[in-house]
Amino acid sequence: MTATAMRSHRCGALRAEHVGTRVRLGGWVHRRRDLGGLIFLDLRDRDGIVQVAIGPEWTPPEVLELATNLSTESVVLVSGAVVGRPEEARNPDMATGDVEVHADRLEVIGQAELEALPIPVWRTKGEDPPAEELRLLHRHLDLRRPELQRNLALRHRLLQRTRTALTSLGFYEIETPILTKPTPEGARDYLVPSRVHRGQFYALPQSPQIYKQILMISGFDRYFQLARCFRDEDLRADRQPEFTQIDIEASFVAPDDVYSVLETLFLALWDEAGHSITAPFRRIPFHDAMEHYGTDKPDLRYEVMLTDLSDVLTGRGFRAFDEALSSGGRVRGLRVPGGAALSRRDLEALTAVAKEAGAGGLATLRRKGTNLSGPLAKLEGLSAEIAGLDDGDLLLATAGADEVTSRALDPVRRAVIARLDLPPTTAHAFAWVDEFPLFERDPETGAVMFAHHPFTAPHPADAGQLLRGERAGVRALHYDLVYNGHELGSGSIRITDAELQLRILELLGISKAEAHQRFGFLLRALRAGAPPHGGFAVGFDRVVMLLAGAESLRDVIAFPKTTAARALFEDAPTDLDPAELNELALKVDNA
Ligand code: AMO
Repeated sequence: MTATAMRSHRCGALRAEHVGTRVRLGGWVHRRRDLGGLIFLDLRDRDGIVQVAIGPEWTPPEVLELATNLSTESVVLVSGAVVGRPEEARNPDMATGDVEVHADRLEVIGQAELEALPIPVWRTKGEDPPAEELRLLHRHLDLRRPELQRNLALRHRLLQRTRTALTSLGFYEIETPILTKPTPEGARDYLVPSRVHRGQFYALPQSPQIYKQILMISGFDRYFQLARCFRDEDLRADRQPEFTQIDIEASFVAPDDVYSVLETLFLALWDEAGHSITAPFRRIPFHDAMEHYGTDKPDLRYEVMLTDLSDVLTGRGFRAFDEALSSGGRVRGLRVPGGAALSRRDLEALTAVAKEAGAGGLATLRRKGTNLSGPLAKLEGLSAEIAGLDDGDLLLATAGADEVTSRALDPVRRAVIARLDLPPTTAHAFAWVDEFPLFERDPETGAVMFAHHPFTAPHPADAGQLLRGERAGVRALHYDLVYNGHELGSGSIRITDAELQLRILELLGISKAEAHQRFGFLLRALRAGAPPHGGFAVGFDRVVMLLAGAESLRDVIAFPKTTAARALFEDAPTDLDPAELNELALKVDNA
């Protein structure tokens, strides 16, 4: 449906094959150049840009006059002949660069006022975009940029590919409520006051988790939804308060079945973006990920791995290391091939990264030829062979409890890879991380929390421990999907036994009465005959961000929030007037 009475083609569609035809185009004036009598307009629409030439030979004088006064970003309709550009005027950087349109008619539909253009849409190559605050404030203009148009077009294609891939695997798309009851996913809820039920609140869903389980209990067998989720949490470049998940649930499945569905989906999504990847994906137990990479979302494109250096580096007169060992910690670090080339300043920067992440310090040892240098070179009896260093290698080490050394060595590993610009072994490193612990401790309060959400089934091998009321070391049937160091999604096999569900909630400090009040509808459903079921949720915005090569989720969401959770363009959230507050039985305490 490109051709309408107003236009025959989209701007970006014109090619050499159209030379000699007449076209009618509609679009925005991306750029205007006036070469004294000959005027070039770059005319832009969703699909691209084409050069429109307006010159005395083919354009009537009144049209020339109109074009002289045309401001950029105005909307125009243009008619004319498609002409091949002379060899020297061709632009290989433009898809339409072999042709131009010699316009003989021009109609200005929407003249853009200069004051209405506080940020430019057109930029010279390499020029930085305006500050993001400004871009978000004038989002209607920012969204005109070809880059954002491309990102949202890709987003659309990925959404459609998701629908067809999952539909052909037998999944039904089912919508679940937005006005709902709190779902525990570890963040704060956005709450909506009820006018009818004064003093009562709905919560916006952090995820459709409980509803999708109920759909399984009701027999729908395979469900998916492009689900909007709302979480009031600290925001970063890869988090938004409102985001989209590809949410999936299936009955009569084990983790392998879930992996296989997701692998089919990811093959399709990466294919849509022009990448060929292979499945099955690699699998890494949580424990191994922490041991070798210090994180549960390792970037597996690079071979550098964490290693236990306790045997190599203790008992050689280095107090900090010996003390860490005797208080139950370990010395852990990285051997970095080629790392000896790093300067003293680089090493100081790496030490700062480690300290910033909570380590006491970062000790170094460089081998150049047969020469060892750095603070660890003084260790008694330590040779390059014992340290395991080849010529040109660097050893980095830190000591302490595993949580501390993992937290520090993960960013150190990433920083050293970036600094040395190490070559990736593959472009697309997917992996399933599984065998997560069922419980974890809140680092601030020390309270026991669920590591994922409280509906995750325990690992059958650890059921005995759980029955004895033990929490430490109990693993979950929970899995994450990681890609190039990003968590793309997570899921689990669910608890289907109401008694076990109550027991888990109790271990999390939720009494029976509270459990019934908060999750009564799930518990009732579980008692009515629940099939084994499990599922997954993909962070869709993250997928689009990575496939678009964007740096922030904000560049793949049409109307995103700032890191302070504000909608700058439409200016939300806003104050309510007293009458509205009164109707909702609310009082605002500004103290
Ligand atoms: P989880 O909370 O791990 O699991 O979320 C799944 C994925 O959603 C993405 N994500 C986000 N993306 C953008 N902004 C955010 N604030 C944000 N928070 C999460 C991440 C994450 O991996 N109900 C479970 C899934 C299940 O068990 O089936 C859930 O929501 O990519």
